[in-house]
Amino acid sequence: MCGIVGYAGNRPAVPVLIESLKKLEYRGYDSAGITVLEDKLETFKAVGKIVNLEAEIPEKLDGVVGIGHTRWATHGRPSTQNAHPHNSGGPARLSLVHNGIIENYMVLKEELEREGYVFKSETDTEVIVHLLHRELFGGPSCSGECKQEFLPALRQAMGIIKGSYAIAAVYPEEPGKLFVARKDSPLVIGVGCGENFAASDVTAFLGHTKDVIYVNDYETAVLSPDEVRVFGKDGEILDKTVEKVEWDIEAAEKAGYEHFMLKEIHEQVSSINNTLAGKILELEGDIELEGLPLSEEEIRTLSKIQILACGTSWHAGLLGKYLFEQLAGIHADVEVCSEYRYRNPVVEGKTLAIAITQSGETADTLAAIRSLNAYNCRTMAITNVVGSTITRETDGVIYTRAGPEIGVASTKAFTAQLIVLYLLAVKFALIRGKLEQDTAKNFIKGIKKIPGQVQQVLSQKDAIKECAESFSGAKSYFFLGRHLNFPIALEGALKLKEISYIHAEGFAAGELKHGPIALLEEGTPVVAIATKGQTYEKILSNIKEVKARDATVIAVADTDDTEIEKYVDVVLRVPSADELLSPILSCVVLQLLAYYTALALGRSIDKPRNLAKSVTVE
Ligand code: G6P
Repeated sequence: MCGIVGYAGNRPAVPVLIESLKKLEYRGYDSAGITVLEDKLETFKAVGKIVNLEAEIPEKLDGVVGIGHTRWATHGRPSTQNAHPHNSGGPARLSLVHNGIIENYMVLKEELEREGYVFKSETDTEVIVHLLHRELFGGPSCSGECKQEFLPALRQAMGIIKGSYAIAAVYPEEPGKLFVARKDSPLVIGVGCGENFAASDVTAFLGHTKDVIYVNDYETAVLSPDEVRVFGKDGEILDKTVEKVEWDIEAAEKAGYEHFMLKEIHEQVSSINNTLAGKILELEGDIELEGLPLSEEEIRTLSKIQILACGTSWHAGLLGKYLFEQLAGIHADVEVCSEYRYRNPVVEGKTLAIAITQSGETADTLAAIRSLNAYNCRTMAITNVVGSTITRETDGVIYTRAGPEIGVASTKAFTAQLIVLYLLAVKFALIRGKLEQDTAKNFIKGIKKIPGQVQQVLSQKDAIKECAESFSGAKSYFFLGRHLNFPIALEGALKLKEISYIHAEGFAAGELKHGPIALLEEGTPVVAIATKGQTYEKILSNIKEVKARDATVIAVADTDDTEIEKYVDVVLRVPSADELLSPILSCVVLQLLAYYTALALGRSIDKPRNLAKSVTVE
């Protein structure tokens, strides 16, 4: 959460910083701010989104070095005082932005206050500012002589603070330079021509360069217009590789859609194809996966898969559990990382831990994977972001290749995760002799049809929109599914509550009678995923139970199911597909239902209140 940006170049920094911040707004939008280095530090802040900040900035600012921040509040409520950048001194002698959490900030704050430092905000970040001031000037005086250069002072401060941080700073005593540092929060440098960039995420500067340097933990860097120098923990200069990012700027733009979320829902036709590209051997009925951390022999003798994820990625993991068990006959568990990281799990036998994370930066997911270091257990990641932290923390990585996902509510990254899980489960099933080659061939044929079938779902968006509008006044919504549709019911409810703010719950339909049924009132909309499969009859019974309580049922059903209309109020159709694969199609229906409900209610769809896309704090 929170996004930081920095620029050192040859043109006015303000428009570059603002444009970059807008790209990172998905990381938080409680407040925003920038500092530009003119003959002195010029800092501007505003509560709320970047447009509010723009209104605060005077036209004429020519400084070519600067930093910016978009905040998701952790320490201190959203206010101008708590907005970054934070400066030390008066007049300001240094300015800094931070993404992360300083865990020992209370102790440090008390110590600094005793020494005479005056805090202007409630943030943990401000302790870094005063610590740096102390290292640079020897005391709280605003007019002290500078005792050393900025970078050694930054390293000294890093030795004192505990927690996570990506930092960018500017310092008038060393004009023309941008300083950055990282531990446990994402930070990437963009290498341009006569200008260089730093940001929490490559999308911030993708319009300017695709050449990037990933900064690792405890590294620091100095960026000037013509040079990037990266240093290791002890100040040694590092020879870092400049890597090329595959994503292009168009992928991070709205391309005529009203919202990123709508664009990303539509992109699933191509993103699923991208996920599949190069992984399917259709004629042989086989799957080819790069990035697996296990040999075939190890897959054959694997005793357990432990899936770890948060939020929407956890729903993908839940579906993955069903697939690994059903197709490959491997015991699989799935757990939310915020719980797993504090358990003392029993990891016995040969276990493969799979972290599923769109961003590759979710703090709890990283912590859960790290907690497995104590065990003799192989780890891998399914992630969308090349070079993200999780890729450096696991033994193997499979990229989902869904392209940049900007809408806070995950859509195309989720379906890409599902596709990777299908492929993994089939691959494991083949290696373990649980799936005949012919059955695999048919299944692979089914997977290949999905993009076209998603297109068919999208072509019914008017019917979904009409349904969404007619129930947009509901107080509560319920989503029911059984078997593989259970995770989709959870995901449908999460999507709806995230962006429409309507209370929504997903249930395993069989559990309805054990409590949730008490919540049903006349007219409560209940979405039942009733596609054909082994639990079809069972869900029909659940639908009847719901109808008997006068609730209103919206069914997601196969195109050729003529029976269903007799029992429900509204039918939303998906093309008939293998029952293992149809959850993907139902999920697209529920994404559109959430989207059009939020649209009817005039919600902030791409940036829902209180949420951030990348949760890099605990
Ligand atoms: C946040 C996002 C969700 C996402 C979750 C996990 O809560 O708003 O959309 O599913 O984090 O993120 P990850 O990047 O690990 O998949």
